[in-house]
Amino acid sequence: MFSAVLLEKDGSGRTARLAELAEERLPEGDVTVDVEYSTLNYKDGLAITGSSPVVRNFPMVPGIDLAGVVTESTHADWKRGDRVVLNGWGAGETRWGGLARRARLEGDWLVPLPAVFTGRDAMAIGTAGYTASLCVDALLAHGTRPEQGEVLVTGATGGVGSIAIALLAEAGFEVAASTGKPAEEAYLRELGATTVLDRAELSEGGKPLQKERWAAVVDTAGSHTLANACARTRYGGAVAACGLAQGMDFPASVAPFILRGVSLLGIDSVMAPKARRLAAWERLSRDLDVRLLDTIAREIALGEVITAADRLMKGEVRGRIVVDVNR
Ligand SMILES: NC(=O)c1ccc[n+]([C@@H]2O[C@H](COP(=O)([O-])OP(=O)(O)OC[C@H]3O[C@@H](n4cnc5c(N)ncnc54)[C@H](OP(=O)(O)O)[C@@H]3O)[C@@H](O)[C@H]2O)c1
Repeated sequence: MFSAVLLEKDGSGRTARLAELAEERLPEGDVTVDVEYSTLNYKDGLAITGSSPVVRNFPMVPGIDLAGVVTESTHADWKRGDRVVLNGWGAGETRWGGLARRARLEGDWLVPLPAVFTGRDAMAIGTAGYTASLCVDALLAHGTRPEQGEVLVTGATGGVGSIAIALLAEAGFEVAASTGKPAEEAYLRELGATTVLDRAELSEGGKPLQKERWAAVVDTAGSHTLANACARTRYGGAVAACGLAQGMDFPASVAPFILRGVSLLGIDSVMAPKARRLAAWERLSRDLDVRLLDTIAREIALGEVITAADRLMKGEVRGRIVVDVNR
């Protein structure tokens, strides 16, 4: 038997509970993992609270991320005792995920735990931090350089935002952090933000072209925030769009793209090819100061996940939540 968060749905509705599950209920897969840590990402919050139809089939063990140790493998790349990380690939959406003490997965989905991190560190980073790293990789590949000016990060106190700030600051950028939590200014400056702005400055409808301000943007909000970010990006700049914390809509015009040559870079972490994942984890292991993870992340037990998901959806959480699935 193993403990897991279990989401079920029947004629009378949808439930989320901590359950004891028989080993035989694990899905098919070529690698079995003893999970050490998982996390709560925004998408896990959506899945657990049912705020959005993230879960495609029931019953489901949520958790898009895990770090753990291989116990059985018929996959050529992995053997018993290997320390691995999983981000995405439909875990917690179409396949049982990481908010459990045991998981069975496809070996092709796994990456090795970087040597500089513990499993807990890797989950303090999680999909949020790995996505932040994908965003920074995309902006640098576009040609964004520190001397071109400030980079805006929206949803700054969130998981993606927090780690994006730290990675950009480490890469030498001046970082403007947009937040709805002005009381967290000291936290954002500790991560490396040089300017902190109220997200209300970006969240209402605005003109298609506005005064040029940022060389580049990491946007986690979507909706008007993304539209305004594009409208204020400097000539030739780039906007890495990865989130929808404000909304999935994009009430914008093409003006920034066709008159200022601004590029909109779409970032997906779930199905990203392995080479891109490895590069993103390589940046994290090289550039992220692990000491910041104590400031960014807070640990909870598996039994606390369901209530924490509610708080996450209310936007009350700062930084990241790590889940020790064994307590
Ligand atoms: N594309 C991908 O593969 C991928 C991967 C990971 C995450 N994401 C998406 O990226 C977004 C952020 O993820 P996360 O893990 O960082 O989530 P998170 O930790 O919950 O952070 C989201 C942050 O967004 C800000 N926010 C909340 N409501 C908002 C609103 N109405 N308007 C503007 N900002 C708002 C808040 O920060 P402030 O209070 O500081 O403003 C909040 O802390 C989510 O939409 C998530 O689904 C996408």
